[in-house]
Amino acid sequence: MNEAIPQLLTYDEASLDRAFAAVAEEVRGGTSSLETSEAQEAFRLHWLGRKQGRLKLISEAWLKSAPAEARKPLGIRFNQLKQEIEAALQAPVAAAGAAVVRGIDITLPGTVRQPGIAHPLLETMQEIVRVFHHLGYSTNLGPQVETDFYNFEALNFPQNHPARDTQDTLQIADQGAKPSRDRLLMRTHTSPVQIRTMVAQAPPIRIVIPGKVHRNDAADATHSPIFHQVEGLCVDTNITFSDLKGTLDHAMKALFGSGVKTRFFPSFFPFTEPSADVQISCIFCGGKGCRKCKHSGWIELLGCGMVDPAVFASVTEERRKLGLDDDAYNPDRITGFAFGMGVERIAMIQHGISDIGQFYSGDMRFLEQFA
Ligand code: PHE
Repeated sequence: MNEAIPQLLTYDEASLDRAFAAVAEEVRGGTSSLETSEAQEAFRLHWLGRKQGRLKLISEAWLKSAPAEARKPLGIRFNQLKQEIEAALQAPVAAAGAAVVRGIDITLPGTVRQPGIAHPLLETMQEIVRVFHHLGYSTNLGPQVETDFYNFEALNFPQNHPARDTQDTLQIADQGAKPSRDRLLMRTHTSPVQIRTMVAQAPPIRIVIPGKVHRNDAADATHSPIFHQVEGLCVDTNITFSDLKGTLDHAMKALFGSGVKTRFFPSFFPFTEPSADVQISCIFCGGKGCRKCKHSGWIELLGCGMVDPAVFASVTEERRKLGLDDDAYNPDRITGFAFGMGVERIAMIQHGISDIGQFYSGDMRFLEQFA
């Protein structure tokens, strides 16, 4: 079996194929007698031995002097060859004294397949969505590439509002020739789906909108240019701020435990009036004050407010263009509330994660902790 290593003279694909085919032939010649574990071990040493194994010798003879551009095609073929040798070694060896049976040995342990799990972010997103499904909300989705109209204009962002600035918004290139309302961008929040839903359907509306959003932010421990939100929208007759408070208080208790308290602070969003930021009592210290809540006892978690009548006005205008002249969103009769929360932030609090980048790293040591 110990033939000399043939010399490689040329490195074109055909020559490489020929050279490797010859070695593969040699491997196959050796596999017919692998019926005892001793024979297998000898075969393994012959081919895969660390110092004098044939594969090692071949690799030295062929790779060392190979030109740089031949490294990759050589490497690919080496790996295939190695796999073939390893596969031959996987073939079952009959137990001593038993008849040698080629084929499947049902006494060997099976191949263990690792079942996949949902990504922790999707898990948290589903958990939030589920809380609202139990309150009678359904899920709506919208596109990640949005128009300026749905992302900003219909949501009452004034023409020169800083959030439209290229600082925050990832614009799609070459949109300058279009009217500003049709220009494409990566949606900066899930709120445009509020508009899409209301234009398409009359109240009552109770929807949650989970999804991916993009902002031109530098990545750091708490920011990522791509992240996820869950939005909520409830529109009907007689919807009040009390309904908003009760709904979110319930949702936070369902997510973080019944002992959690909520409080609402005045805030501003162009598409809600009044607007509020919602804080929950710190789940780490129970409100006493700790490092996680910056010693305030509270953690800020989401934005919300009553749907601004200006939003209903844009919706009505769009519905009229579609021939839906039905007064469905008359602000004298119809009110609503909306809220939006960051999924990463909630998942980080739930799991005690301090670096947002872990969610996107694909590091199995991180992900396996959620299996
Ligand atoms: N869209 C807002 C944001 O991304 C959050 C929000 C949603 C606020 C709904 C109020 C109502 O910051």
